[in-house]
This record gives sequence, structure tokens and C-alpha cells, in this order.
Amino acid sequence: MFCLGTSLRLVPVCVRAFPRCFSSIIPGLDEPIGDEIQRTASLYVHWPYCLRRCSYCNFNKYISRSSNNNDSITECLQKETQTLIRLSQVSCITSVFFGGGTPSLAHPSTIAAVLESISQQAHIPHNVEVTLEVNPTPLGRSKLEDFYHAGVNRFSIGIQTLNDEDLCVLARDHSSHDALRTVEEASRLCPGRVSVDLMFGRPLQTAHSWDRELKEVLQVCDDHLSLYQLTVERGTQLFKQVQQGEVTMPGDEITADMYERARALLHQHGFQQYEVSNFARRNAVSHHNLSYWKGRQYIGVGPGAHGRFVPLGEGVVCREARTQTLEPEVWMCEVQKKGHGTRRRIQLRPYELIEEVLVMGMRMTNGITHKHWQCFSPHFNLHHVFGSSPSVQGLLQSGNLVLDERGLRCSYEGLSLLDSILPTLLLEIEQIYAPKQKDNHIFYNSR
Ligand SMILES: C[S@@+](CC[C@H](N)C(=O)[O-])C[C@H]1O[C@@H](n2cnc3c(N)ncnc32)[C@H](O)[C@@H]1O
Ligand code: SF4
Repeated sequence: MFCLGTSLRLVPVCVRAFPRCFSSIIPGLDEPIGDEIQRTASLYVHWPYCLRRCSYCNFNKYISRSSNNNDSITECLQKETQTLIRLSQVSCITSVFFGGGTPSLAHPSTIAAVLESISQQAHIPHNVEVTLEVNPTPLGRSKLEDFYHAGVNRFSIGIQTLNDEDLCVLARDHSSHDALRTVEEASRLCPGRVSVDLMFGRPLQTAHSWDRELKEVLQVCDDHLSLYQLTVERGTQLFKQVQQGEVTMPGDEITADMYERARALLHQHGFQQYEVSNFARRNAVSHHNLSYWKGRQYIGVGPGAHGRFVPLGEGVVCREARTQTLEPEVWMCEVQKKGHGTRRRIQLRPYELIEEVLVMGMRMTNGITHKHWQCFSPHFNLHHVFGSSPSVQGLLQSGNLVLDERGLRCSYEGLSLLDSILPTLLLEIEQIYAPKQKDNHIFYNSR
């Protein structure tokens, strides 16, 4: 995915780069007009199976023992898609993202079936962005053309690194050669619509080897790159290895240096950074991920998927954060019984929605425009909320934050410090919007 967590990894880094600013506005989704926010949504579909467990991964995935349940899971994905679109009462799906897990293990007919279910329930514009995450194994590569014919028009390939030893350490089941061939084949099918995921801050990685690796990637990649700092997640094999001293992670200063080097190098090669971890050239941005950062509604289908939408069909009028049941077998039983496997619903209070809009919006280099803010905060504009605060003034004067006629955003240097800037901004929001008393607004659906 981006199943939300994916791109939200960047430890605050205190490295001052030479002064630069984001000079041009990067086009993406237009700001919504009128009630468009409630009439449209993007759709995320979670495929929960993988062939093996990578050492660093704590996503919701299960090692598949057989492919026998492809038909049942496909039926359930279709059914849940239709139920949730009906509940949301959206009339248009603006993008679709098949993430995982390893969705390239799914049968291409599953992808076609889910797309068909969407189109029976809502308008799906011609040429809408349909992304599939692909593991660059020979099997994944061999299915690309069928996925393309099933309706996928954008591939996001998890190459992670081009260093074969590192691929072993990370317990990946592909080689750098596989990765290069998969990127080549994907670019042949969807020129200009292929993204690759890379991870930096890996055990034993140095800034120089990262430079070399990036240059190699730049020779073969298409027009989109996502760079994630490797995070040591609790419960993973990597976590144990680090705890037991078997593996050493590079320090914060080294990873900060890697991040800045990557930003500079990609810029030299014509890539514009449009989000903390995302870079595109020729405007090949991910419209699906932009919809998250712009606070749009999204529907999450499949085991463990997350969604954010107003379930108008249930008579609810505020946005809910919804999570589907994690375990595939249990999720399937629930979908068969009730039409969906929503396990948890949290009604977002206006204050919480504004917090999300801020945290997500500030990840974009364009930041939050006045028009974008006004969609969610009609009564208090950006100047009203942030303009008079002494601590925000400090951030503006240090050059890390910008508040002007375009809106609120981080400067080039400020984006690397986002995690330390956000608490100051959140405090201002709290003072204006926080409710006086906390009420219980979490619902757990019974099985
Ligand atoms: C949800 S994963 C699934 C993609 C696909 N199964 C794969 O492994 O290539 C999407 C991306 O998240 C990133 N990711 C996963 N775990 C991470 C971690 N612990 N730290 C940083 N990035 C991570 C990887 O770059 C990966 O390509
Ligand atoms: S293939 Fe992707 S989702 Fe599956 S374990 Fe590896 S990183 Fe996680």
C-alpha cells in the first residue's frame, strides 16, 4: 500500500541542507468543489498473502499454504467492495490500489472481478489510475501482462535494494536481476506509470553505496520512486536480530545524510519531490496516494484494510475511521454473513479530522493550500489558526515553515524536520478545535 502506514516512515533528522525551496507547484489532484469530497472516494484493496516473511515487515500478511481459496477470497472482495461503496453512497471511485501482502500473487481474474464490481456500484472514470503492488519475482513478472489486460495501468514494484547480499539479509525472495527485468517489463506495458520502492538506512549500508545504488536505479527506473527509511518494527525478525546484536543499523546522522543525498540526486535527474518519501518526473505522481494526503475519502476492502469515509447509507453524517477484520479466514466468514468484515469504526470528531488533514497535508511539498484547508475548516482559516502563535512564528522565522498566499507548507529544509514541526502545529489546532469533554465514539462490530 500505501496502507497508510507504508509511507509514514521518516525519523526526524536534524541535518541542515544548503538553502533551497520548492519553487514550482506540483500539479496533483485539484481541490474538491462543493460536496465532491462526500461524493467521491478512492478504493484500497488488501491482498493478505505472501510467499514468505521478509525480515523487516510487520504488515498484515499471512503465508499462503495453498492457492485453493482464490475463488472464495475473490467473491468476498467483490461482495465487500459493493457493500462498502453502497454504505458510503459515493457516486464515483477516483482511483484503485491493490496492495498487500503480495497482490501480484492474486490471479489476474481477481483484479478484473473487483474492478467489475466497482463499476456496477459507482462510476469509474475511463483511464482511472489502477495500481498493483508487484513483488519482482519471476512469477510476478510473468503475470504483468495479464494484470495489465485485467485493468491495471500502474505498477508499484518493491525492489527495495539492488544489492543481492542485502536482499538476502532482508529475506527477500528475488534477486537484483529479477528486479531489473520486472521494471523493464512493467515499463514496456505501462510507460510512465511504473513506480519502484527502495529502502535506505539498511544494516551495513553506507552513504556511498546508497549513492551508487541510486545511480543504478536511475538508469533503469521509470518516472516514479518511493524511498522509505527502513524501520525496525517490533515483532519482526529484524527487531530480534538488532536486539541480540546480530545486526547493526546505521545511526540517525547517516540515514539523514542518505535522505538528503537522495533528494539532491533525484532532483538532478529531473525528479520533483512531491511528498516526504515520493518523487516523480513528468508529473507521474500517484493520484491514489495523493488522495490520502489531501484528506479525501477512501474505502478499504480486504483483511485489515483501513478506510475513511462517511457511511451515509447507515444514516451516519460524520467521517469514520474503519478497519476490517485482520485474519483472512475470519474476515471471509464475516463478509459471507454480513456483506462486510468491518471490525472497528471510530467516528472522527471535527477536531480529529482536522488533525488528520494537517498531519497528512504537511507531508506534501505543496503543503496545505487555503482552499484545501477551507474544505475541512470553513470557520477558521490558516492565518487565523497558525498566524499569531509565537511558536509557529519561530518556525516561520527559522525558514522551516512557510505561511503565505498559497497556504501552509514546509520549506525544503523543513520537510526533513516534519516530525519535530508537527507537535507545534497540532498544539495550535488543539487550542482552537479540541472538544471540552471526551465522549466515547468507538464501536466494535460483533462477529
Ligand atoms: C506494504 S509493502 C508491500 C509491497 C510488496 N509486498 C513488497 O514487499 O514489495 C510496501 C512497501 O513498504 C515498504 N516497507 C515495508 N516494511 C517497511 C519497513 N519496516 N520500513 C520501511 N519500509 C517498509 C517497502 O518498501 C515495501 O515495498
Ligand atoms: S513480500 Fe512485502 S508484504 Fe510480504 S512480507 Fe515481504 S515486505 Fe511484507
